[in-house]
Amino acid sequence: EKGGYEHFMLKEMYEQPKAITDTFSPRLKNGDIVIDELGMSDGDIREIRKIMIVACGSAYHTGVTGKYVFEGLARIPVEVDLASEFRYRDPILDEGTLVVVISQSGETADSLAALREAKARGRRVLGIVNVVGSSIAREADNVMYTWAGPEIAVATTKAYSCQLIALYLLAMKFAKVRGMISESELEEMITELKKIPAQVEMLLNNKDRIQKFANRYLAAKNIFFIGRGIDYAISLEGSLKLKEISYIHSEAYAAGELKHGTISLIEDGTLVTALVTQEELYKKTISNIVEVKTRGAFVMAVTNTGNTDVEKAADYVVYIPKTNKYFANSLAIIPLQLFGYYVSVGRGCDVDKPRNLAKSVTVE
Ligand code: M6R
Repeated sequence: EKGGYEHFMLKEMYEQPKAITDTFSPRLKNGDIVIDELGMSDGDIREIRKIMIVACGSAYHTGVTGKYVFEGLARIPVEVDLASEFRYRDPILDEGTLVVVISQSGETADSLAALREAKARGRRVLGIVNVVGSSIAREADNVMYTWAGPEIAVATTKAYSCQLIALYLLAMKFAKVRGMISESELEEMITELKKIPAQVEMLLNNKDRIQKFANRYLAAKNIFFIGRGIDYAISLEGSLKLKEISYIHSEAYAAGELKHGTISLIEDGTLVTALVTQEELYKKTISNIVEVKTRGAFVMAVTNTGNTDVEKAADYVVYIPKTNKYFANSLAIIPLQLFGYYVSVGRGCDVDKPRNLAKSVTVE
């Protein structure tokens, strides 16, 4: 059942190119994005005043990326909240707010309760769900399925990647309908989107190099992930992937926040993974790399091919192919998934079933 792979997690990582293709293909028609299941007319889309994204865990991390993508592309204000917070905080949900609940299992108790809360307040809820017919899929007003197929490993990989694709498609659609991007800009984005599966494949094939690197950190006490903007969202997920399956303490930090506390934890040899995929932020993040290196950190950077400035500052660089800036997460997450996976394997942990965790969290 693991198809020759040692773990479900590795198998599922390798299923990402196909899962991503299956998620975007049915929604690309004649150079346009068609999401019939949205149940929204162009008029409805123009009337959206705010998007409220609610989710837990990795699905929440895709929501954080979604905020940057929706705001940057479609200029719609977005709030992202953890479902367990949202449901108890008497949220303000004005008319014109579209609530988006993201969940792989469709059964996460807090996410389901958040959905019910939003519906009780009369708001339209769109579910981005992987499991067909699950509770969230049934109760949402509309469902956009991620076509990742069954995911067994507790640590999500392919469902996460498909959630990102669903969010890109939505943001591109909204941006187009609201006149924020032109026909030709959309066309260019679609061209880049279609390249993602092959680029992911290529990054997966780099696994031996990442494994070798991971083996150097099997005894690490703390590992940090830093980045700005979308790179911060990637950091959140990279950190969770590592800690949930390897039990090594890890934190993700918005790079500019480091000097407000966390930098005091940097010691000689501490690994800091820096995400540097957003061109307009290169210089700012590189200065954070220099700051942590001055305190003894060893820096692994994930950046775009050709960004040689990073090479001068960091100790170890993983390159990802150049893509549309809003899609960088889909590529940069691959080496981080592999890193978490190989640290877990190297430490002899139960990769697919980490202690204390369940695949779907049906209790609050
Ligand atoms: O099924 P869901 O997407 O609602 O699950 C949400 C989280 O429980 C899930 O993403 C969790 O954080 C994973 N273990 C992350 O790998």
